[in-house]
Amino acid sequence: MTIPSVLTRRDAVNTLFLAALAGSTGKALPASPGNQTLVAYLSRSGNTRVIAGFLSREQDADLFEIRTREPYPEDYDRHVDLARRQRDAEIAPALEDLPASFAGYDVVFLGFPIWGGALPAPVRTFLSANDFSGKRLVPFVTHGGYGPGSALETVAELVPAATVLDPFVLECDQERAIIERVSSWLEVSGVKS
Ligand SMILES: Cc1cc2nc3c(=O)[nH]c(=O)nc-3n(C[C@H](O)[C@H](O)[C@H](O)COP(=O)(O)O)c2cc1C
Repeated sequence: MTIPSVLTRRDAVNTLFLAALAGSTGKALPASPGNQTLVAYLSRSGNTRVIAGFLSREQDADLFEIRTREPYPEDYDRHVDLARRQRDAEIAPALEDLPASFAGYDVVFLGFPIWGGALPAPVRTFLSANDFSGKRLVPFVTHGGYGPGSALETVAELVPAATVLDPFVLECDQERAIIERVSSWLEVSGVKS
């Protein structure tokens, strides 16, 4: 990746981010203009959404959020319980919709958080419901400190006809940790009802 001699701060941040991403894949990023590129992502608390939005702007790509027909609970612990049960039963929950004209994309960036050390069930549905034959798939993964677990192996298993590039993996804040910090503060603040 060439770095232009004059950079705005935003350009510099973007260039460094994409350089890091390219470095992490060890392969040329599929960034050529004219590519039909999709950025598809799942996100509960927003970490993966930030990366997805950035990539779609940088790559001039369509953006698609993976949403289940039945929304996940707002409550964090109930969400964790449901995600665990879906993982253990290998359930692929129904999605609200799928990308229009999926066949027209050459490159699909696929972003997701790690849930229970595994690929989230809605991403399992997404991969099974679309034909990835001949496409390049670029995973980007966020996790709360325990790494990607089995998720990337599952991606490769579910789309054997795609070329899966090395992933971008990033440790991010955990909603659980934020909630625990706020709960502790409420305990000592004297304002708890
Ligand atoms: C249901 C659930 C399960 C999670 N399980 C793990 C886990 O096994 N390992 C881990 O490192 N982080 C885990 N996390 C933390 C998220 O992977 C991490 O915070 C991620 O960046 C959240 O992405 P998001 O903000 O796009 O939803 C879990 C979060 C949720 C909601």
